[in-house]
This record gives sequence, structure tokens and C-alpha cells, in this order.
Amino acid sequence: MSMDEAVKALFRPKSVAVVGASRKPGKIGYEILSNIIKYGYKGRIYPVNPKADKILGLKAYPSVKSIGEEVDMVVVSVPAKLVPQVIEDSGEAGAKVAVVISSGFKEIGRADLEEEIVRRARKHGMRILGPNIFGIVYTPIRLNASFGPTDVIPGKIAFITQSGALGIALMGMTIVERIGVSSIISIGNKADIDDADLLEYLVEDPNTKVILIYLEGVEDGRKFMKTAMEVSTKKPIIVIKAGRTEVGARAVASHTGSLAGNVAIYATLFKQTGILQAMNVEEAFDWARAMAYLPEYKGGPLVVVTNGGGAGVLATDTLAERGIYLEKPPKSLVDEVRTFLPPFASLANPIDVTGMMGNEGYVRAVMAALKNPEVGAVLALYCQTAVSDPTVIASMLINEVRAMGGLSKPLVVSMIGGEECYWAITKLNANGIPAYLMPERAASTIASLINYVKSREEVKKRLEAIAPH
Ligand code: ACO
Repeated sequence: MSMDEAVKALFRPKSVAVVGASRKPGKIGYEILSNIIKYGYKGRIYPVNPKADKILGLKAYPSVKSIGEEVDMVVVSVPAKLVPQVIEDSGEAGAKVAVVISSGFKEIGRADLEEEIVRRARKHGMRILGPNIFGIVYTPIRLNASFGPTDVIPGKIAFITQSGALGIALMGMTIVERIGVSSIISIGNKADIDDADLLEYLVEDPNTKVILIYLEGVEDGRKFMKTAMEVSTKKPIIVIKAGRTEVGARAVASHTGSLAGNVAIYATLFKQTGILQAMNVEEAFDWARAMAYLPEYKGGPLVVVTNGGGAGVLATDTLAERGIYLEKPPKSLVDEVRTFLPPFASLANPIDVTGMMGNEGYVRAVMAALKNPEVGAVLALYCQTAVSDPTVIASMLINEVRAMGGLSKPLVVSMIGGEECYWAITKLNANGIPAYLMPERAASTIASLINYVKSREEVKKRLEAIAPH
């Protein structure tokens, strides 16, 4: 069996065994089995527990070998000292991949035990995800082999996380924020399968449009960067690099035992490989959501439409900090909006329709920018006023975009204001138009879409230059 087949089995197992599937609700092994069943996995499921006959209505087996049928994936949730034997048993039974949930390895100084399980797995051509992880989710086949929340929302973002508890928390956050994911992969100590292996699979995965990584450190930097460079020419990779400060790096060392490395070196390498570095979790998910929803930026000026000068200034600052300087809007657009905007409206970029504009006028200006063939992308900023209604504006934008057959260029919205803005934002997001409360978040998001395409083209050129002729 090739190595790739093992990684494939991680995302598309035909059958799954849960070793350490407990009989007691609230224990990790029980909850993982319960999630696999409840989320609707269609393959065969085998609980393994020598003390049980039946768990959650399924026949239980004393060992993987005793199942007597093909098992692709084995989820291991028994104490660390029992894991080597479970790996041996699974390998002998022909399992392709083991998802090792158990803690108690390298992170507590037991690198020897970790090496032992990898050695045993390799002997049988099996690979290991983990140890010290909360599991894996792959929504296209309704696989939730994790002890995180059950009802993960399907979508186009793959999320790889080196942190367990933070990963579970963010899994919950995606549900509340209605962010759809193709996959959530807890990668933990990365004893065997690492980020690069996962990237190689995800780049070919038609269900994944953007890859988001919470990264503390990488062991094999060269392999990671080489793979990331190739992958980023095809799909955006967003990284949250933890341990950006000296004290943060020390915290990383005691968390997953990774070397956080030099901050500046990482930032440079990310840039060279086309990886987008987000400064925090919020930014990373903001960008990922937009990249999952929107068509690609195909060049041309970004036009900002606002009904509030201040919001426009904040967005302009955020864009400039990310290397995007607003050009004058196309003349054809200025000529068009001039016909219905007040004479004191500013027709530079941002186009400031002014606070006196009602729903129709504001939406008309945004749509004019969106439909103008010379415009490359639109950032629509809205400040709540008494003469307009954010929920009506959201509905109008959704209907207009639908009427034009969907978006053909990026549109990002910010709605700043009270409770109605929250509802409007939720509605826009639910309809594939990324929307945020703050103008800086929206500006940073549209900048990431544009900067991804720019950096991808540079990376492609660099790859061509170093390719053997
Ligand atoms: N094969 C199969 N099942 C077995 C075996 C065996 N050889 N031996 C025992 N079992 C059964 C047990 O009887 C038990 O079932 P029961 O509850 O029905 O009796 C079940 O397997 C589990 O074994 P326990 O000894 O009860 O272990 P427990 O569930 O308490 O702990 C665990 C196991 C969860 C793997 C623990 O050792 C551990 O590592 N916890 C940390 C996990 C973790 O946090 N991972 C990182 C995630 S990321 C984050 O930080 C959130």
C-alpha cells in the first residue's frame, strides 16, 4: 500500500473501528463512537472493547483482528501505554490508518513511546494521525470521528489544527457563526502524518476550496514549504502562526513540544511560498469564509462604496497597510452614480454616497460598482442610519445578486451598527455574501482575496524559474 492510500483512508475510510469505545456516556471513546453514528457516517462501524458485547446498539469486538472484516481506519482512545499493542493489532488486521486520540507521548517527554507506535505502524504499512488529538471530521462523507461538537456544517474550508482544545472550541464557533467546513483535522504531535501530507490530499480534494492551518511549529520545514508553495498556486492556504513572540514561542514548547522558530523567518517563508498569514483567529476565519464563498479576483480596481466617510477612511487605512492603494473609480462608474447621488457626494474612491442615502440609493450605488465591467472587486461599507434599514439593504443586495445570476467578482460587506446589523450580516453570510460588523474586518478580507491572487502569480513565476528545463 502506498503512503497516499493511507492518507486517502483518513478522509474516505470504507469502515471505522473505535478502539476504547467506552460503554459510559461522557467518556471520550463513547463520545467519538456516538459522533460517528449521529453525524451519519455510511460505512461499517466497529466498536472495540474487550469488556463489552454491545455499545450504542452496535456489536462490540475484543480486538481489531477479531472483527474479521476489512477495517480502513482505527480510532484509538485507550491510555497511552496500551496504544503500541493496539497499533500492532490494527496493523496485523490490515488497517490503513490509525487516528490516535490518546495523550501521554512526546508532549510529556515520552518521545520513545511515540517513536514506538510509528515504528509498529510503519512495519505494517499503516500511518498515524496524532497522537494527542481530538480526531478528524470530513463532511462530504458525513464522518465525524472526533469528540468535538456533532453537527458540523458542511462547506468548503479545510481546517488543520495543531491545538486540540482550541480546535474543538473553534469547531463549535464554526457552528454558531454558520461557517461551513469540508474537514477539521486535529494533527497534535504530528508523529507521522504532518501538515504537508494533508495539504497534498486537500489540494486535490474537490470539496475543499481553502485551507486554514493553526500552526505552532513544523518539524520538516523544507518539506512543508515545498508542498505549501505548490499547493498555494492552486488553493489559498491561510496560516495562524502561534508563538509569534519570544514568550509565545516558550508557551508553544510546553504545549505541543514544537519548535516555534524564528518569527521573522516564518513570516518571510510564508510570503515566499504564497501562504497568507493571518494575525489572529478572527482574521483567519474572516478570510476563509470569503474565499469559500466568492469567485476569484480577476484583476481590475477595487471600488469602495460607503455611506459614511469615517468607515471609508478606516477601510482605506486597512487596505493600505496590506499594500492595496485605491485608484480613482472608472469614469463610466462615476458618470453613472453621479446621476442619482446628491451633489455633495464624494465620487473618488471610496465613493461616499453620504448618510442621507436611503436603502434604494445605497444599493443602487453598490450594484452599479458590481456590474461595472472595469471594476475588479467591491467593498460595500454601511453605517446604520435612521433613513435606511440594514435588514432591507441585505435583502435587496441578496435579491439583486441573485437576479444577476450570482457574483462574478468579489463583494465583501460591512454593516456597522445595532442589532439589525447582526441580523443583516447573518442573512448576507447565509446567502454567500461575506459580511462583517467592522469595516477593518471587511477591508482586511477583501485585501486577502486580492493579495492571494497577486502572490500566487509571483509564486508561479518563481516555481517556473526553478523548474528543470
Ligand atoms: N482495547 C479496547 N478497549 C479497551 C482496551 C483495549 N485493549 N483496554 C481497555 N479498553 C476499554 C476500557 O475498558 C474502557 O471502556 P469502558 O469505559 O467501557 O470500561 C475504554 O476502553 C477506555 O479506556 P479507559 O481506561 O477507561 O480510558 P479513558 O477513557 O479514561 O481514557 C483516553 C482514555 C481518553 C485515551 C485517555 O488516556 C487520554 O489520553 N486522554 C486525553 C485525550 C486528549 O485530550 N487528547 C488530546 C485531544 S486535544 C485536546 O486537548 C482537547
